[in-house]
Amino acid sequence: MISRGATWPLDFFSGVISLEDFPVLEMKNITKAFPGVVANEDVSIELRKGEVLALLGENGAGKTTLMNILFGIYHADKGEVSVNGKKTAITSPNNALKHGIGMVQQHFTLVPSFTVAENVVLGLKETGFVIKTKTVESKIKKLGDAYGLPVHPRARVWTLSVGERQRIEILKLLYTGANILILDEPTAVLTPQESEVLFKALRKLVSEGSSVIFISHKLDEVMEISDRITVLRNGKVVGTISKTETDRRGLVKLMVGRDLLVDTVKPEAQIGRPVLTVEDLSVKNDKGLLAVNNLSLEVRAGEILGIAGVAGNGQRELAESIYGLRKSLSGSVRLDGKLMRSGNVTSRIRSGLTYIPQDRKTIATCPNLSVMNNIFMKNSITRLVKSSSFNLDNKAMSARTEEMIKSFSISTPSSRTAVRYLSGGNLQKVVLARELAMNPKAIIAEHPTRGLDIGAMEFVYRSLLEQKSKGTAILLLAGELYEIFRLCDRVAVIFEGQIMGYTPPDPAFIEEIGLMMAGSMQEDSVHENQG
Ligand SMILES: Nc1ncnc2c1ncn2[C@@H]1O[C@H](COP(=O)(O)OP(=O)(O)OP(=O)(O)O)[C@@H](O)[C@H]1O
Ligand SMILES: [Mg+2]
Repeated sequence: MISRGATWPLDFFSGVISLEDFPVLEMKNITKAFPGVVANEDVSIELRKGEVLALLGENGAGKTTLMNILFGIYHADKGEVSVNGKKTAITSPNNALKHGIGMVQQHFTLVPSFTVAENVVLGLKETGFVIKTKTVESKIKKLGDAYGLPVHPRARVWTLSVGERQRIEILKLLYTGANILILDEPTAVLTPQESEVLFKALRKLVSEGSSVIFISHKLDEVMEISDRITVLRNGKVVGTISKTETDRRGLVKLMVGRDLLVDTVKPEAQIGRPVLTVEDLSVKNDKGLLAVNNLSLEVRAGEILGIAGVAGNGQRELAESIYGLRKSLSGSVRLDGKLMRSGNVTSRIRSGLTYIPQDRKTIATCPNLSVMNNIFMKNSITRLVKSSSFNLDNKAMSARTEEMIKSFSISTPSSRTAVRYLSGGNLQKVVLARELAMNPKAIIAEHPTRGLDIGAMEFVYRSLLEQKSKGTAILLLAGELYEIFRLCDRVAVIFEGQIMGYTPPDPAFIEEIGLMMAGSMQEDSVHENQG
């Protein structure tokens, strides 16, 4: 609730400024340094009642750090926070919640083996010794229904999709009664449909007087959902603008400091031999259900095959199984004609297959290892730098890492920094650097630009297209059709673990793709598999 703090302008009482203009939250002159980097420098932001404020900025600009300070995860070196006009020291996340501030973090924090209800009350002090499960469950259900975010309170989190997990994180905040909601890249892992559901809930929340800080790299979303936008660059605020006063281009300029050349031209495919051949592959998911159903596909040298589909239709299991991380029930995977044993990753890496998984935090990297060691993690197999069987050539590795940090513009204090200190987007760049440096024959790329700022995204597009021009076969599993059209030479549509048909990568086929995504099998064979 709003209290009459001493810092409130008198204009309020004379009626010049409406209630909405009052900051429910102010962060003033915040500075926070980590060894080797100033993440926030003299940053001031203001959040008004009933608004969505977007925080925008390149990877490593300092968005998450600022929000971690607000949520009490970090403490600022300098500066102050005021809630409802009152100077407030936020000492911990629990303390933040007491002030009505809740945060959905960039990477999920739920316990997979717990139920939804258990996760919601986890860590809440008010619950006391005895948790009345029934009451908690019915409250969660009510909240879910009220905000269009339905979940089953008794479901175990590990059985839920990413979109559902996201909902729980938000319901958890609503459960605690937070009215200042911080969402750090909530849509990075959502399908466009799921994002719409989220936006609906957010609109309802702000219409009821809550305020939201929303972080995203997707400019269309920022333009859609926010009222005002604060842009950070290199840890400093470069401006705050009202949405109505800007457009995508203006935002890019503020963010990057210059106009960005976009739209790399897609080179014509010089299609060669079949490199990656999948035949009659069947794979189960974690729940033991059939996720990939007798699926066949072929990716040839010099082409990018895009797989379009609604998330959860077997994409992940397909990628994992092709890479050997997940055993198949039946069927085969061949690389350059050579049969790969089910569930064997090493032989695939040796044969020149690389994988950019969607989960950079738990599958793709080791958080406590340095940037260098993460990049050279597969060195014993790939021999990216030569080393004797006992000794790694540290000097060569170090030099090579420096090169990669430069060419991938990875923002890190040094090559020896543990990757858990890197910003989300920079962590993704480490994965890309490692996987692309192996000179792969074939790449499986699953959401390769997730969480990247638009400059970095263009960089990944260029890198993948370059690989393709070199004759690499690329299988791209992406959430956004835009990305698939930009990069691919053919589009395959997946539904319930089966390929429903193929189209050229052209927006003219959106309707046909949509139908196949919803489960109708392609009737004609005009757009033959062979493209
Ligand atoms: N705990 C930490 N220790 C050391 N450095 C850190 C730590 N947390 C963040 N940093 C550094 O602070 C800078 C800002 O990181 P931050 O995570 O705030 O960026 P971001 O704007 O959220 O980027 P992204 O869009 O990639 O998520 C980065 O250079 C990062 O490496
Ligand atoms: Mg971040």
